[in-house]
Amino acid sequence: NNYIVIMAGGVGSRFWPMSTEAKPKQFLDVLGIGKSLLQQTVARFKSIAPANNILIVTSANYKQLVTEQCPELLESNILLEPCMRNTAPCIAYAAYKIKGVNPNANIVVAPSDHLITNEAEFVRIIENGLKFTANNDTLLTLGIQPHRPETGYGYIQADLINNGKLTINNKKEAVQIGSEGESCETMQNMAPNFPPSGGSEGGICKVASFKEKPNLETAKTYLSEGNYFWNSGIFLWSLKSILSAFENDLPEVATLFAKGESVYNTNKEQAFIDEMFPTCMNISIDYGIMEKADNIYVQPADFGWSDLGTWGSLWEKRERNQQGNTVVGEKVHVFESSNCIVNMPKDKKVVIQGLQDFIVVEDNDVLLICKKEEEQRIKEFRATVLED
Ligand code: GDD
Ligand code: MG
Repeated sequence: NNYIVIMAGGVGSRFWPMSTEAKPKQFLDVLGIGKSLLQQTVARFKSIAPANNILIVTSANYKQLVTEQCPELLESNILLEPCMRNTAPCIAYAAYKIKGVNPNANIVVAPSDHLITNEAEFVRIIENGLKFTANNDTLLTLGIQPHRPETGYGYIQADLINNGKLTINNKKEAVQIGSEGESCETMQNMAPNFPPSGGSEGGICKVASFKEKPNLETAKTYLSEGNYFWNSGIFLWSLKSILSAFENDLPEVATLFAKGESVYNTNKEQAFIDEMFPTCMNISIDYGIMEKADNIYVQPADFGWSDLGTWGSLWEKRERNQQGNTVVGEKVHVFESSNCIVNMPKDKKVVIQGLQDFIVVEDNDVLLICKKEEEQRIKEFRATVLED
């Protein structure tokens, strides 16, 4: 009953100029290990679901890249979008298509551009989560302990009142203790077991609120409060739960996709999608459902997760020398520089001197030199260059 839906239709614009629209980062071997991020993602799920239950949702433009990189998947499991509408329509498409074959499916939705270093722990966490979502009408997300006020992620507030040592019954009492200003200054003091671990549900917590991409100030307060997780973007739910979430929170999207119920998994599916998809709203699952639904749960997860979203995140993951530099390129010479990430074509002769915390990348006929702390602006730089 387990199905895997891999979202692989983004353009990875903050990883430009290595990631381009013609070949976005999920199709690249950014770590230099002989496998693209997408191939690593598919491999990670091999023990969780049979290849025939792994679906990839991507842009029609990437059909060939996906079939080349993932020859073990059924062609009918590669879902092609005629245009980008972000992750909510992508997930709705997969859900309605799966409904046509297995209405009792239990689904994992995963991005295609993450790094996970501890695969055994990943499998353990996913299996635990699937057991939970098979038996509960919930939307479960895997939460990562945050360590910096990153503004590019979603933040999950664990509900301390209903977790840890506290139960709904002593909620009133807890609020009273808090308001009387006794020894418990923070919610965390009231739930000394937070985040919970072990137990029959493996530490799964009820979520009080979900906030997608907060501003820096808000992200800082979340970090100091201590009961927030980063949303890993890996979601688990039963088909029934996600379909009712669409019906409740994004009814326009649900209605559009439901209209195709008689054509999914037939030779009329693509024509239906090509016509309907452009009329669908553009919204991510995070804004569209996760911020609104009230049956969200989080499973704290620690499996060496990293969103390889930016050059800075790749710098964190790559092996660095004593000066903190990490260099790709055989003819690169670096002097008096530290904490830089350098990616040069193999035989480009390059000398770098006096740079601290910089990104220096040449690829696809573009040379980018940018401060690491300004890397969120690479999206904007890319747009400027594309307009030239
Ligand atoms: N098929 C398809 N179609 N895939 C898409 C589309 C689309 O229109 N847009 C994005 N994707 C894919 C991307 O390729 C990526 O694998 C995944 O969906 C997530 O999209 P991103 O665009 O990378 O989202 P994000 O990084 O801004 O935010 C999400 O991930 C964060 C963690 O990495 C959110 O879920 C955040 O809450 C989360 O913290
Ligand atoms: Mg991302």
